[in-house]
This record gives sequence, structure tokens and C-alpha cells, in this order.
Amino acid sequence: MTSLSIIPFTRGVPPAESFPKAKLAECATAVLMEYGDEVLQYAAAQGFRPLRAHIAAEAGAHEDQVIVGQGSLQLLDLLARMMIRPGDVAYTEEPSYDRAITVLRRAGARVVGIPLQDDGPDMQVVEERLQNGERPVLFYLVPDFQNPSGSVMAAWKRQRVAELAREYQFWAVEDLPYRRLRYRGTDLPTLRDFAPERVVQMSSYSKLISPGLRVGYAVLPFDLAGPLAKMAEDTYINASYLNQAVVYEFIRRGWLEPHLEYLRTLYRPRLEAMLDALEEHFVNQATWQRPDGGFFVGLYLNGSVRAEDLLRQASEVGIRLTDGRGFFANGGGDGFIRLPFCALTPEEIREGIRRLASIPLLSMSAEVAEE
Ligand SMILES: Cc1ncc(COP(=O)(O)O)c(C=O)c1O
Repeated sequence: MTSLSIIPFTRGVPPAESFPKAKLAECATAVLMEYGDEVLQYAAAQGFRPLRAHIAAEAGAHEDQVIVGQGSLQLLDLLARMMIRPGDVAYTEEPSYDRAITVLRRAGARVVGIPLQDDGPDMQVVEERLQNGERPVLFYLVPDFQNPSGSVMAAWKRQRVAELAREYQFWAVEDLPYRRLRYRGTDLPTLRDFAPERVVQMSSYSKLISPGLRVGYAVLPFDLAGPLAKMAEDTYINASYLNQAVVYEFIRRGWLEPHLEYLRTLYRPRLEAMLDALEEHFVNQATWQRPDGGFFVGLYLNGSVRAEDLLRQASEVGIRLTDGRGFFANGGGDGFIRLPFCALTPEEIREGIRRLASIPLLSMSAEVAEE
């Protein structure tokens, strides 16, 4: 890396060195030989059966409750279009995954952002809104290593949201693409563990094997699975069985677990470099989560800045940032910076955070804070 190269703190994508190319090539050859006639043909919209059976067994669900689609985002889009009528309310955490907010809005939802605390959404706000008669159709949550903040939802909040979903008859949609990328600590229960009949669980192999394969899935209550499969069929007939079979073969050969272990070894030092660099440069200027996994650390700057100024000054010192406002459904987010660390080396991370701290807007606010 030269000192002049631009450091991108933009989208959270896995790095090229994480892709198990040779193993995937072996899997692709094997599945074409073994299931070629099936995977090269049109097929049922629910997805490649052996993979669905595997996902169902992992989730403690029935195979008919699993739909494998073209990445999880497209399944969320179909789900949103199926559930939401114009003007319906959908809750998200605030901040939340920007593309999910877009998808919900496009389906006609009035998206209400529930302020995110260190341990998940502010439950007092949720309870008050529900008691005041606002009934969301769904509540979209990323409970494990949230995109964009890195936060993890406390177990009691998972349980409470599941109970409220049952009581107020909304769907809790938990999106878990980072759950298995835990570098320290132990897993918490999922929302689905508490109320499987009110929870849609979504996840994906994008962050675990490769996003280019576009293999994501949803585990749904029985009464939603059929209609969602019909939506999928009427939209794209079926998602690629070849790709789904490649993923299945990778798992069947026992290669996923060691691969996840490799990813954890690759990403853990990147997370540590990020947390150390923030500690070194931002103690007086910002607050942030200290996640045990995932792809992101979200930085909340103290004081007020304008997103336009922040983005401009960042690019002047050789870093690229995503506009924080996109993660906030109800406005704000000017001073929020999502910092994806997985596709950068520890050296790039340290240099990038040093550059970020050097931008005039932030060095000024640090001086004020120190006074
Ligand atoms: C929370 C979350 N959900 C969904 C996705 C998209 O996943 P997929 O590639 O399975 O569509 C992402 C990708 O960044 C994400 O962060």
C-alpha cells in the first residue's frame, strides 16, 4: 500500500482472499456430474431440496418452511411486497441496514426507526408506540453484529420483541448474515427460538462463502412459506440451483466449518486493529460499539457535523466513507460513520483511522472536547 492510495470504508464486502475458489471449482464439477440434469433445468421456487433440508435441520424447522433465494435481500424484497400495503408501518432499528430501509419503503411502508442502544433497540420506545395503538406489519432487525453499527441485541430484548410480536400480531424479521462470524464470546438465542410462529429468520451464504453465488434463505412460519414461494415463482421462476447445489456440496464435504474458522482468523485481527485505532484516535471525539464479530464498527461523532462536509474532507485525506444518513429512516445520521473492517488489512485500517482523525472537522471537535 502506498501512502497515497485511497482507503475505502464504504460497503461491507468480503475480501478476495476469503473466497475458497479451488474448493468451489471442485464442488461445481461434482454437482454438475451428479445432479446436472436437475440443476441445469427450471425448478421449484423453494430451492434445491438437499440445501433446504440442511437449513431446516440447523434451524429446527420443517423443510417446507425454508425458501432459498437469490441472496437474502431479494427474499426480503418479496416478503415486503407480500406483507406491506401502502402506508403500513414497518419498524427498523435506527440506524439500520440501508438497503433494507429502501426495500421496505419501495413496498409502500412508512418506516419508523427505533433508536438503537448499545444492546439493541430501545424497548421503551417500542412498548410505548405499540401501547399507543401503532401496529407495525413487521419489525426488521439485525440482532447479531448489526449492519451498520456492529451492535448485538441483548437476549432479554430478543425475547421481549418475540413476545410483543405474538401479542400485537406483527412479524419479527431477524436478519442474521453475520451471526456465524463471531470472533469472541458465545452465541445468544435467536428471536425465532422464542416465537417461531411470528418470526421470519433470514440469512445468507454471502458472507460465509461468497456473495457472488447469491445464495440466501428465509425460514418462515408455515402460513408465509407458500405465498412467498409463489411470489418468488412469479418473479424469477427459481433462483440458481447450480449455485445452491455448489453451496450444499461445500457443506456436505465438511468444508464450511473449517472455512468459517479460517474467516474468523482472518477477520479477528482486523477487528482488533479497528478497535485499537479508534481507542487511539477517537476517545474524545466519538462513541462506538466494541463488537465481538461481524464486518462493522459504527462510529457516532460527538457534536454536530454536516454529512456533505464530512464526506468531502474524508476524500481529501484519501479515505472514502458511506453517507451515514442512509442508515437512518427518520432523518439524522450526519455524524454517523460505518467502518467496515473485513476487506482491509490491519495496516490499512490503522492508516485509514489515522487519516479520518486528521480531517479538519474532527480535529477541531477534538480540540474543543479537550478544552
Ligand atoms: C444485514 C444484511 N442483510 C442482507 C444483506 C444482503 O445479503 P445477500 O447477499 O444475501 O442478499 C446484507 C449485505 O450486506 C446485510 O448486511
